[in-house]
Amino acid sequence: MKISLLKEENLSEAIELLRIGLLNSLGLSEVEKQAYLIYFENILKSKDHHYLKLQATEFKKLIGILIASESAGVKYLEWVCVHPEHRRNSVATKLIKTLEREAKKKGNHKVYLTVKPENRPAINLYQKLDYFQEAYLKRQWYKGDYVLMSKFLF
Ligand SMILES: CC(C)(COP(=O)(O)OP(=O)(O)OC[C@H]1O[C@@H](n2cnc3c(N)ncnc32)[C@H](O)[C@@H]1OP(=O)(O)O)[C@@H](O)C(=O)NCCC(=O)NCCS
Repeated sequence: MKISLLKEENLSEAIELLRIGLLNSLGLSEVEKQAYLIYFENILKSKDHHYLKLQATEFKKLIGILIASESAGVKYLEWVCVHPEHRRNSVATKLIKTLEREAKKKGNHKVYLTVKPENRPAINLYQKLDYFQEAYLKRQWYKGDYVLMSKFLF
């Protein structure tokens, strides 16, 4: 498996993977799914260098994506998704470790993210990578509850 910056030629595969991941992500309402689909698709298409977009490939097939943004020295992990046939194979772990390496190189001292409390696979993943629950956000994005998890890099 290879992790690299998302390649332009993989954009449509990335949008398809985004759709698959969002539709079966745990705890998201229909409103959230549709809103995030548009939001993340726009980020994937964006040329804005403020976003870090990573891809995981195996034999040239796209099997995972990660999107992060940066603000005031802190990285926000916007979305990570692995193709259902390639899960539990450390793909997300490798994508997040690459994000952390890139963040450190830029001097970012912290990575944070929000996740639905029902999304146990994702919460387990972040805990395994030493993210801690920093807050519980009630009625946050689209009136849904979210857990805010963080990790200090420095
Ligand atoms: C969450 C997700 C990204 C995990 O990707 P993955 O490549 O399978 O994760 P990894 O193989 O790196 O898993 C690392 C650890 O996370 C935890 N984990 C991952 N999937 C899990 C599951 N289905 N159930 C319980 N724990 C899970 C485990 O602790 C695992 O370590 P282990 O396999 O040694 O037990 C993937 O399930 C996914 O794409 N889900 C849909 C999109 C989504 O919800 N993204 C997160 C948005 S906040």
